[in-house]
Amino acid sequence: MTTALTITDRLDSVLPDVEIQALTPLIEEIEELKVLRNAVVLAHNYMTPDIYHGVADVTGDSLALARLAADTDADVIVMAGVHFMAETAKIVSPNKIVLIPDLDAGCSLADSITPQDVALLRERYPEAAVVTYVNTSAAVKAACDITCTSGNALAVVESLDADQIIFLPDQYLGRWVAGQTKKEIILWQGSCEVHERFTGAELRLYRNDYPGIQIIAHPECPTDVLEEADFVGSTSGMLSWVRTEKPDRVVMVTECSMSDNVAVGSPDTEFIRPCNLCPYMKMITLGGIRDTLVEMKHEVIVPDDIAERARLAVDRMLAVG
Ligand code: 13P
Ligand code: SF4
Repeated sequence: MTTALTITDRLDSVLPDVEIQALTPLIEEIEELKVLRNAVVLAHNYMTPDIYHGVADVTGDSLALARLAADTDADVIVMAGVHFMAETAKIVSPNKIVLIPDLDAGCSLADSITPQDVALLRERYPEAAVVTYVNTSAAVKAACDITCTSGNALAVVESLDADQIIFLPDQYLGRWVAGQTKKEIILWQGSCEVHERFTGAELRLYRNDYPGIQIIAHPECPTDVLEEADFVGSTSGMLSWVRTEKPDRVVMVTECSMSDNVAVGSPDTEFIRPCNLCPYMKMITLGGIRDTLVEMKHEVIVPDDIAERARLAVDRMLAVG
């Protein structure tokens, strides 16, 4: 996160000296552009360390980024994350210009469901409340009653009056919530192409090979992975857990860049790093952030009627916490 520290201080324990020297002119250019445009860079925890520690004004999970987008005084928000995150920023801050460095930065979960699918589910289960994970398009959010993130999914489900809940699109997050509530949860079969590659068998090998290892997992992982985990939480939940528990050895069962970013502030913890990259998050680069700010390009627009209904769903979630 950018602070009063110099670029070298921020990146000192993150990147080799030669890379810091090579990247410094680009980071300086982005810093000048941010001032010129009165822009803020919001970076998801999966951004590469050069973005996360080099140019981000704020970092966080989906929930934190939605809150920060709603609160910022900047005129321009650059979303260093994927498209649904930029749409959420636009929904909660309709008067700001929201830019994304690459319009193709999508998400396999968001692609797994359409508003028409939601309409069919509502027809089949007319009494059910519809909860959507934020990893969906604005149009899907507009068709649902309330959004949730991996950080507040259970609290959102528990906050609703209905006993029957349609939970979409992530089947694994939905199952994880279902295991902790008395409500009936109706699942959609969406999944994250990054997290579904992990297996419980792989984690048991880590336990065997690395005595004392703590396993912490994102709830988008398959059920056998979550059963093997010592802690399950959102990307920011996992970060806080490492900072608080200070384990000697940990494996973060999530996207690769998380361990790189968290390791910087946890020098006494050994990180075992299986690497599943999110190809969409990795479309966001320092060069792309610079170009976005130079040309003010890739503005994310959400049509008013969709934005209004989607805002209701997001605001309901933000009220839950
Ligand atoms: P978080 O809300 O935990 O940051 O997760 C977002 C995401 O896309 C994880 O794959
Ligand atoms: Fe979507 Fe998975 Fe990438 Fe997260 S990690 S943005 S859920 S594809």
